[in-house]
Amino acid sequence: MAQERSNTLGVLVSGRGSNLEAIMQAIEDGRLDADLRVVISNKPGAYALERASNRGIPAEVVASRQFRKDRQAFESAIHDVLQRYGVRYVALAGFMRLLSPWFVRQYPNRIVNIHPSLLPAFPGLDAQEQAYEHGVKVSGVTVHFVDEGLDSGPIIAQRPVPVLDDDDADRLSARILEQEHRLYPECLQLLLQNRLAVDGRHVRVRPAEDA
Ligand code: GRF
Repeated sequence: MAQERSNTLGVLVSGRGSNLEAIMQAIEDGRLDADLRVVISNKPGAYALERASNRGIPAEVVASRQFRKDRQAFESAIHDVLQRYGVRYVALAGFMRLLSPWFVRQYPNRIVNIHPSLLPAFPGLDAQEQAYEHGVKVSGVTVHFVDEGLDSGPIIAQRPVPVLDDDDADRLSARILEQEHRLYPECLQLLLQNRLAVDGRHVRVRPAEDA
């Protein structure tokens, strides 16, 4: 088994992988000091896998379809891959499955997710459309720890994105996505530097020298 290092990261994906790309670019630029060991997709054809391979990152498939309704077996398979690559931190980047309490316990305060709304508003699927249809004036991005609920874990950071008069759901989504690509690497950098202190629902950023 590969040795566990403190900044080892695994990314779970299901789709196009633009956040994955932003993470990999941040690593390349030196803005994110992460050792990205593996990208795992539950969908065999996900474009995110190609993005990982293009940058020489191991890309693995654990096809949820093959496990049918056996979530425990599916998650154990993911856990096995993460262990094999010595992953300490897990970032969900468009990963479309809810994780069980068992899986979450394997990585206490070490799994994070990005969501395209200002949580707790508009959790779940199509958050940008939900926000647009509701007629809110401000939506945005949330990065949060993953707990056993749906987009419900302690919030690490949020970025507001105003809804403009001539917006539609697609235009709003595009501007939210731009902010996602900025915010996620920043939060991951804090996480991997061990600078996030979780106290119940509250997440505080420790000064660099205390980490
Ligand atoms: C993003 O909007 C993210 O916030 C949400 O799923 C989408 C994934 O997009 N969780 P991508 O695969 O990173 O391009």
